Amino acid sequence: MTYRVRSAEERRTEIQANAAAMGIDEAFISTLVDSFYTRIRRDERLGPIFDDAIHDWDAHMPVMKAFWSSVALSTGQYSGKPVPTHMKLEGIEKADFQIWLGLFYKTLEDIAPSEDAIPYFMQRAERIAASLQLAMFGLPSLNESIHT
Ligand code: HEM
Repeated sequence: MTYRVRSAEERRTEIQANAAAMGIDEAFISTLVDSFYTRIRRDERLGPIFDDAIHDWDAHMPVMKAFWSSVALSTGQYSGKPVPTHMKLEGIEKADFQIWLGLFYKTLEDIAPSEDAIPYFMQRAERIAASLQLAMFGLPSLNESIHT
């Protein structure tokens, strides 16, 4: 068996071609982020959490678009650190992540450019949500064993 090492550039081109075939491009990501945060801000539980923490939404939206462009299209536009950003937020519970993911799913159900685009975004969102929860709440099994 022979292995061919692909350059980062080749890999990026392949990811973007694969995404484009599902209708995922920068224009869709921009619409997705706008639509998702409109829902978030209207949500009775998450809306106040976001509005308390974010004072300049006009500055936050380009950050989120860069983040999803990096995650979905591998463009490298985002260079922030989501884990410490979330760790300093107060009053967030595990159940809030289910609300977040539910709203993200509903947004995709309404506006996804293809059926395949829904799991493409959901898998990535769920993976990142799991790693944020691990950082914020620790491993559930470890916490349980401490209390038994
Ligand atoms: C209960 C769930 C969540 C809540 C309440 C939440 C809340 C927030 C808030 C309030 C901010 C702005 C913080 C600030 O600017 O000081 C933020 C930033 C951010 N969030 Fe979340 N978030 C949640 C889940 C997620 C998930 C699942 C993802 C990714 C899939 C995500 C990705 C990000 C990113 C990339 C930023 C920007 C960080 C930066 O400034 O570089 N969040 N979040």
